[in-house]
Amino acid sequence: RPLHVVALGGDGIGPEVTAQALRVLRHMQARHALPLVIEEMPYGNATWRATGRLVPAATDAAIGRADAILFGAADSLGRSAMPAEERARGSLLALRRRLNLFANIRPVRTERALDEVSPFKARTLRGVDLAFVRELSGGIYFGEPRGIERLEDGQRRGINTHSYTEEQVVRAARFAFALARGRRGRVTSVDKANVMEAGALWRQVVGALHHDEFRDVALDHMLADTCALMLNRDPQRFDVILTDNLFGDLLSDAAAGLAGSLGLLPSASLSPPAPDGRRRALYEPVHGSAPDIAGKGIANPLAAILSAALLLRWSAGAEAAAREVEAAVSAALSAGARCADIALPGEAVLDTAGMGDAVLAR
Ligand code: NAI
Ligand code: MG
Repeated sequence: RPLHVVALGGDGIGPEVTAQALRVLRHMQARHALPLVIEEMPYGNATWRATGRLVPAATDAAIGRADAILFGAADSLGRSAMPAEERARGSLLALRRRLNLFANIRPVRTERALDEVSPFKARTLRGVDLAFVRELSGGIYFGEPRGIERLEDGQRRGINTHSYTEEQVVRAARFAFALARGRRGRVTSVDKANVMEAGALWRQVVGALHHDEFRDVALDHMLADTCALMLNRDPQRFDVILTDNLFGDLLSDAAAGLAGSLGLLPSASLSPPAPDGRRRALYEPVHGSAPDIAGKGIANPLAAILSAALLLRWSAGAEAAAREVEAAVSAALSAGARCADIALPGEAVLDTAGMGDAVLAR
């Protein structure tokens, strides 16, 4: 059965950068004779204006068939005029839940080509090569009970619950250890075991899994506040950072700053493997819809292109093709290819399609 890929460009710069990622994906499909079926489907605010639905029926059916989704961006702030029910139905959160995505992986690398450019030297750090594995289905964003209640004295109280089951921790940790085996063989598990019960459980479960199945991988435990400090001071020390939903959200955005621009950072969100070994997944740039530059054709498509590389790696099982795409991106940057977000004053600037050309040429 071929791998079924559904592309949802979505809002703002989403369709612009996804178009370049699809050019690269189709090129690799032809070059490596990969069995992919690629469908481009309407989704997002323009679709809502045209059809009254963020996710029309045909798109909904395509998502049902998809092994992998190549996602652009969802402009959730731009949806305030829509009915709340439609907003909820078409949200990225709803899509994550539907696909049962439990782990979000964000590689953060600093590009040597940019390290050597002086203003970037101040904003980036040389030789960073780390990846977050953020647990995506549990923790404080989903825990029950939740809500806003009225207390006896008349004031209101907002409640969220931070909870993790052993199973949720094990499946995220197992993915992180396996990922580390293909990298530098080191996992840093991040929690607040000192003050949070679910954090204490997290630490025990990760330690036990390491002892039972992954003793070849180096494991250390770190408190989340210390991790925030170390990402600033010594980010080169990290290989794989395994953490929960809340800390992963914050720390992975903090680490994104190391790379110099959001336009360089891809991500993948994966479901647990089915009994036949296949998993469903969603690949997207870390950035959003960038309304300030949308429609101008100037957005940097490298985050989307690198997301397509992750799709080749984790959904298509085409490691060689994934590496070729990553190498082509690095080569284009080394040759001086720049979009506006990473250009120095006076440097020649490529538009979105021009950067796609620069990668395809390599
Ligand atoms: P954003 O990531 O869209 O933009 C932040 C800044 O980075 C802007 O100045 C933008 O121009 C720049 N930027 C982002 N991607 C770029 C690229 N590829 N090339 C060049 N410059 C780029 O975040 P913001 O402005 O906070 O949010 C805008 C909208 O995007 C909101 O509605 C938000 O909800 C949504 N969003 C969606 C995400 C998703 O679909 N996963 C993730 C983050 C935000
Ligand atoms: Mg975030």
